[in-house]
Amino acid sequence: MQNLLIAGGAGFIGSNFVRYILGKYPAYRVVVYDKLTYAGNLDNLRDLEGNPRYTFIQGDIAHRQKVEQALREHKVDAILNFAAETHVDRSILDPGAFIHTDVMGTYGLLEVIKAVGVERFLQVSTDEVYGSIEQGSFKEDDPLRPTSPYAASKAAGDLLCLAYHKTYGLPILITRGSNTFGPYQYPEKVIPLFITNALEDKPLPLYGDGKQIRDRMYVEDHCAGIDLVLHKGKLGEVYNIFADNERTNIEVAELLLRLLGKPPSLIQHVTDRPAHDRRYSLSTAKIRALGFSPRAIFETALKETVEWYVQNRGWWEKIRDEKFEEYYERNYGKREILAHH
Ligand code: NAD
Ligand code: DAU
Repeated sequence: MQNLLIAGGAGFIGSNFVRYILGKYPAYRVVVYDKLTYAGNLDNLRDLEGNPRYTFIQGDIAHRQKVEQALREHKVDAILNFAAETHVDRSILDPGAFIHTDVMGTYGLLEVIKAVGVERFLQVSTDEVYGSIEQGSFKEDDPLRPTSPYAASKAAGDLLCLAYHKTYGLPILITRGSNTFGPYQYPEKVIPLFITNALEDKPLPLYGDGKQIRDRMYVEDHCAGIDLVLHKGKLGEVYNIFADNERTNIEVAELLLRLLGKPPSLIQHVTDRPAHDRRYSLSTAKIRALGFSPRAIFETALKETVEWYVQNRGWWEKIRDEKFEEYYERNYGKREILAHH
C-alpha cells in the first residue's frame, strides 16, 4: 500500500493527516481529492505544493466518473474518506448538503470501489453517531442513535459501508473519532471560534449552561489513530478513537480566555443548540489493543493551538464566515442571551 487517495484532504483533519502520512512514510504518495467547499482550503496544503509525492484534484466524491478516473490514473491502493459536511449548526439549518455528501457521496465512493477495487477503504466517522450518553461509554457495536441531521447522515454513511462489506466484500474500515482540535480548523467550530472571537474582544457564545461534555482530542492523536486502523485494523470492523480527555464547554472557554489573557466576562450564555447532545463518550479498548495511546497533553496542545491562531491571523481572517450568524438568525431565530448562569 503506497498510493493513497485522501478525499476531503483540504479540510481540517484531512490536511493534517496528509502532512502526517507524507512525513511518516517516505515511499507513500498522496492524491488529495476535494470539492473545496467553504471548509476546504488549499492554503491548508500550501507547504506541499511542488512536492512530487502530492497531487491535488478538485472534485465531488459523489461524481463517480471523476473518482474512478483518479483511482485508475494514480493507481490508488487505499482510500481514506474525510470528505463531509461537518458542522452540526449548519446541518440544523440546511440538511440537504449533508445528505448529498455524507450519504450520497459515501454511496458514490462505495460504488466506484465496487467497480475498480482497492486494498482498503477507511471511512472517517464520528462519536456523534451513537448519540448522547449520561454515564459510561459507547462500544463499537452499540446501537446508533444520532440526534442532529449531521450525525444521522454520518450514521447512514457508516451503515452503507458496513453493508457493502457484508454484501459485496468491500475492504471497509471505519473510525469513530471524538471532538478534535488543532491548527487549520475552520473558525466555526467552538475552539477556533472562541479563540478568534477572544482575539477581537468579541463575546464567546456559549450554548445553554455550557456544561455539555466533549472529549477534546488533539488532531495529531486523531491522525495517529486513523493511521493505526488503516495499517492494522481488521477489515469490516469499526474502531473508536478517543483521547479520554472529557471537558465541559465552559471549562474549555475559561481555559482559552486564561491562555489569551482575556477576561471571563467575554463568555456570554446564549440559547442552546436544538436537541443538543449532553455528553459523548467512547470506549477505547478495541483501538488500544492495536497499540493506540494518545500522546498530547491537553493544556499544552491547546496552548500550541492558541499560538497557531495568533500567528496565523491571515489564514482565518480570509475564510471566516461573517454572514453565518446573520444567516442563522434569519433562518432559525436569534440566539437569545441568557441572563443567569
Ligand atoms: P472539514 O469541514 O474541516 O473538512 C471537510 C472537507 O471535505 C473540506 O475540505 C471540504 O471541501 C471537503 N468536502 C465536503 N464535501 C465534499 C464533497 N462532496 N466532495 C469532496 N470533498 C468534499 O472537516 P473535518 O473537521 O476535518 O472532518 C473530517 C472528517 O472527520 C469528517 O468526515 C468528519 O465527520 C470527521 N470527524 C470530525 C471531527 C472533528 O472534531 N472535526 C471529529 C470526528 C470525526
Ligand atoms: O464529536 C465529533 C464532532 O465534533 C464532529 O463529528 C463534528 O464534525 C465536529 O463539528 C464536532 O461537533 P460538535 O457539535 O461537538 O462541535 P462544535 O465545535 O460545533 O461544538 C462543540 C460544543 O460546543 C458543543 O457542545 C456545542 C458547543 N458550542 C458550539 C459553538 C459553535 C457552543 O457552546 N457555542 C458555539 O458557538
